[in-house]
Amino acid sequence: MNNFTFYNPTRIEFGKGTIAKLGKLIPSGSRIMLTYGGGSIKRNGVYDQVIKALEGYEIIEFGGIEANPQFETCKLGIALALKGDVDFLLAIGGGSVLDGTKFIAAGMKADSDDLWKLVTREVPIKDAVPLGCVLTLPATGSEMNPNFVISRRETKEKKGNASPKIFPVFSILDPETTMSLPGRQTANGVVDSFIHVMEQYLTVNINTPIQDRQAEGVLLTLIEEGPKVMKNPNDYEARANIMWSSTMALNGLIGAGVVHDWSSHVIGHQLTALYGVDHGRTLAIVLPGVMEHQREAKGERILQYARRVWGITAGTREEIINLAIERTVEFFESLGVSTTLKGNGCPEEAVSLVGKRFRGEGMKLGEHGAIDGKAVEEILSLRSGY
Ligand code: NZQ
Ligand code: ZN
Repeated sequence: MNNFTFYNPTRIEFGKGTIAKLGKLIPSGSRIMLTYGGGSIKRNGVYDQVIKALEGYEIIEFGGIEANPQFETCKLGIALALKGDVDFLLAIGGGSVLDGTKFIAAGMKADSDDLWKLVTREVPIKDAVPLGCVLTLPATGSEMNPNFVISRRETKEKKGNASPKIFPVFSILDPETTMSLPGRQTANGVVDSFIHVMEQYLTVNINTPIQDRQAEGVLLTLIEEGPKVMKNPNDYEARANIMWSSTMALNGLIGAGVVHDWSSHVIGHQLTALYGVDHGRTLAIVLPGVMEHQREAKGERILQYARRVWGITAGTREEIINLAIERTVEFFESLGVSTTLKGNGCPEEAVSLVGKRFRGEGMKLGEHGAIDGKAVEEILSLRSGY
């Protein structure tokens, strides 16, 4: 096992009716800025619950943080919060609202000329305004991690940074808030969570049985519970299991001391930046291609995944790896998530355009640094669908 630091200060309040606890979680006398997205929280009653729980606080609001939060939008949020002398941010929504809010929190404490550099990691995040979260979409793990990902429309970029300063102080996870999710978003969230686990699991064997079995537990839960929420969006138990799986997939626990990959994410971000494909869907395209392309390097772990997650025991090494990739693709497709570029509305030239971006930056991805621009093209060709 590799050396690691595990630090996670986020308090989780999980379950039905927990939004009512907000008043106990935010210091009294705080000047709060509520941040939210395009209005789902006003339609599903979450906004009303928050306002009721925050009686007596001074509140301003910043709505309109879009899916794949935009740099320019967040800059408006920073300006508003500074003008309003805000000392606590409360994000209400999915990963995009939360990531946008984390960036606002860090941006409020940064030099205004450095804001994009905070995203590109050219300047460090030295400080941030404290933030909390009411999560309405289980997917990103942002509710219990120190990361954000921000997009910039005019340059078609999507980049991220992380800092312990931007862990949410608390996150409220009420599974009932997720019952209003459209099926597409529910499915995206299951796939995103699944692939967060895979990026921390499907690398090399360094004798980490605890992390492996925790990771497999999350995968098995998503495979069992995912179809239940797709079939019955009001199944509270299944919603709760998905919500907690999703947090556990990216809060640092299963990733402690193991070797990470993250190539599917880095390649997937380019598909969102160029073509606006939903984050989870980009991963469903890329991961099966990475598994196929890296079948030698990742072979031992794919075999363990095949055996322990899908119960595949018979066959040659190559047959078992083929079957594991097939089962993974079938699972995503069964949730209504297409796993090809074509199926997700990307043109065939996406293969070379994305490859070019990596060639240009000379970036090498994967746990062995073996995925270069040419390999990215090969991976995407495998998933083209054309
Ligand atoms: O904007 P509103 O009206 O709220 O609608 C949202 C949005 O349109 C809607 N929604 C959310 N909760 C709802 C709901 N609709 C009905 N009922 C509810 N309860 O869902 C749509 C998508 O929301 P979004 O927040 O964009 O989705 P998600 O949580 O998947 O977040 C995606 C973003 O997170 C980043 C992605 O790159 C992407 O920008 N990620 C962040 C990570 C992190 N911070 O660690 C890791 C991830 O790998 C990912 O990169
Ligand atoms: Zn993700």
